[in-house]
Order: sequence, then C-alpha cells, then structure tokens
Amino acid sequence: MTNPLVDPFHRAISYLRVSVTDRCDFRCVYCMAENMTFLPKKELLTLEELDRMCSTFIGLGVEKLRITGGEPLVRKGIMTFFNAMTRHLDSGALKELTLTTNGSQLSRFADQLYAAGVRRVNISLDTLDEEKFASITRWGRLRQVMDGIDAAQRAGLRVKINTVALKGVNEDELFTLVDWCAERGLDLTFIEVMPMGDIGNENRLDQYWKLTDLRERLAERHTLTDLAERTGGPARYVRIEETGQKIGFITPLSHNFCESCNRVRLTCTGELYMCLGQEDMADLRAPLRDNPGTDAPLEAAIRAAIARKPKGHDFDYSRQTVAGQMTRHMSHTGG
Ligand code: GTP
Ligand code: 5AD
Ligand code: SF4
Repeated sequence: MTNPLVDPFHRAISYLRVSVTDRCDFRCVYCMAENMTFLPKKELLTLEELDRMCSTFIGLGVEKLRITGGEPLVRKGIMTFFNAMTRHLDSGALKELTLTTNGSQLSRFADQLYAAGVRRVNISLDTLDEEKFASITRWGRLRQVMDGIDAAQRAGLRVKINTVALKGVNEDELFTLVDWCAERGLDLTFIEVMPMGDIGNENRLDQYWKLTDLRERLAERHTLTDLAERTGGPARYVRIEETGQKIGFITPLSHNFCESCNRVRLTCTGELYMCLGQEDMADLRAPLRDNPGTDAPLEAAIRAAIARKPKGHDFDYSRQTVAGQMTRHMSHTGG
C-alpha cells in the first residue's frame, strides 16, 4: 500500500461504514417517520459495485468494515456480499468485518455471518419491555430480536447491545438493562439521541437523556471505574466493579469525541459522507460506474473526499434548542 488515507486533521481513516440499504423492517421513532419514502432500487449500488467500492477502500488502507443500513440484513442477497468480503479477511488486509443490526433477521443469518468471518455484531435494543419495544420501533416485536440475540450467541458471535438513552422512555430500565446484559454476557453501550432527519412529531429535546446524568444514576448503585481502553470508536468505557461488566458511553452531545474520528460512511447509492453530522458528501458512484476498467478515478475521488473531511459535527442542545440538525435520516448514513 502506498499512501494511507489521512485527513486534514492528521486522522488516519481506517474504518469504513457501509449502508447497504436505506430500508428497514422497523420504524424507530427517533430514526424514521412512519411513512418513509425509500430509494428506488435502480439507485442502489449493486452487490458487485459494493464489492468493488469496499475493495478499493481496503486497498487504500481501510482495515475495518461495518455494514449498516437501514437494516442491512433486509438487503436482498446480502450474504453474497459478506461472503465476498471474506477474501479480504483471509488475506489479512481486513482486520474486522462486522455489522450493526436491529436483530430482527439474525435467527436466519447468524450462522452464515459467522461462517463469513464476522465475529462481533452490534444489536440495537432500547428496552426489555414488549409494549415499549413495540411503541419505540412501531413495527418491531421484541420476541423476534430476543431470538436473534440467542441465535447470534449460539453461533459464537460476540454481541454488543446499543441502547439509545431516551428520557421518560427507558430511564426506568437502566438497572434492568445493565443486569440483563451482565447475566447474558452481552456488552452494552448507551448512545445519546442525535438530531438526524425529520421524524415527524417527536421532539429531540424531550427525548434527550444526557449520559452524564445516566452515569450519575448508575453510580448511585455501583462503583464505576473509567477505563483508558479505546476501540477506535467514539465510545468511552467504564467498569462496574461489582460485576466486572464494561459499559460504553457514546456522547456526541455532552462530550464531543470528533478529534479521534477514524471513519467515513458510504451510503447505498455510493455517496461518501465524511462526517455523520455534516451535509458535505462526495459522489463515488459516478467515478465507479463510468470507469469499469480501472479503479484509479475512484481512488482519486476517495482521496479528494478525505482531503475535505470536516473537523466534526455541530450538534448542540445546550441552548434548549436543537442546533446542527441534519436533514437526512440516520438510516441514510447508517449511524
Ligand atoms: P465499535 O466500537 O466497533 O463497537 O463500533 P461503534 O460503536 O462505532 O459502532 P456502532 O454501529 O455500534 O455505533 C453506535 C452508534 O454510535 C452509531 O449508530 C451512531 O449513532 C454512533 N456513532 C458511531 N460513530 C459515530 C461518529 O463518528 N459520530 C457520531 N456523532 N456518532 C457516532
Ligand atoms: N440518535 C442516536 N442514535 C440513533 N440511532 C438511530 N437513530 C438515532 C439517533 N437519532 C441508532 C440506532 C442504532 C444505530 C444504528 O443508531 O439505535 O443503534
Ligand atoms: Fe431501523 Fe435502526 Fe432506524 Fe430503527 S434505528 S428504524 S432499526 S434503521
């Protein structure tokens, strides 16, 4: 490899998140409006194009690939793509192939994902209460996700639960969730709700539960020790001394972590977003499609995009208003 990807702030970009579909079988209230319009199929990168795109990034030094959506496992033929990426794990170029999922399809896919070389999955789960789960996800059923989690663990996948902290919604389940993850041997990370996309009548400020407050609540019952450990992601970790459990906090609002950002995001139509919280993007589909015989123009477009990666997002709720709001939905950029 010649020149690895480095942005203007000297951050090495070694992590690509790829949204393979904007569709989802759930309609989480903080993510989507109930009546979403999805992209027509012809706009999507084909599985072969996704392969070429990811392989080019890997050639430029990307070592970690996270497949996202929408819900990545509702994309037709998605295992063909995972199986194709296995060759990059085998060659050693790719260190990790993983996905973030709502868990609804894992009963069907867990074994196949393990066979393709996936070793960890992040599963979104905000509540253990069936009714609440139905009201947060609108279309989801808790049982389905529980079965998915079981299947993932049975297949040998390490599971991290991602919980969006929602004021007045899952506040009362803090200890239930922590204990449940401890019993089941699941990692757990809390996320602050971000202003992504018009979601109808929901109000972000009403939903916002600051993780500094959540942490204080946790400390009322447990002894917490800050860990220096970094996985290259935005999460900061604490250990609960009583159980040995590790809990992650992703705090885009209460503590900005952009200085250590190592990632960019590709959408299912081939747009590259250099930051989750900024509108700027680069179209990579045109240089890919217009040059079937060579990857050089695509590589040049990737380098040009990385050269304008912004310093960070501008999300801010501190003045009791929502600043830095993005028009696009989380399902567009994949979280
Ligand atoms: P690992 O550390 O590998 O487990 O992955 P991760 O935590 O980066 O990935 P995951 O998909 O679980 O991310 C969880 C959520 O954190 C995402 O869906 C986003 O909501 C948020 N997040 C991840 N990366 C960023 C980032 O760069 N900026 C912001 N603002 N939020 C992020
Ligand atoms: N703010 C924070 N997290 C969000 N997610 C979806 N929308 C938002 C938002 N507005 C989370 C999901 C999932 C991940 C992909 O992003 O719960 O864990
Ligand atoms: Fe689907 Fe995830 Fe958005 Fe929920 S948060 S609607 S599961 S993409």
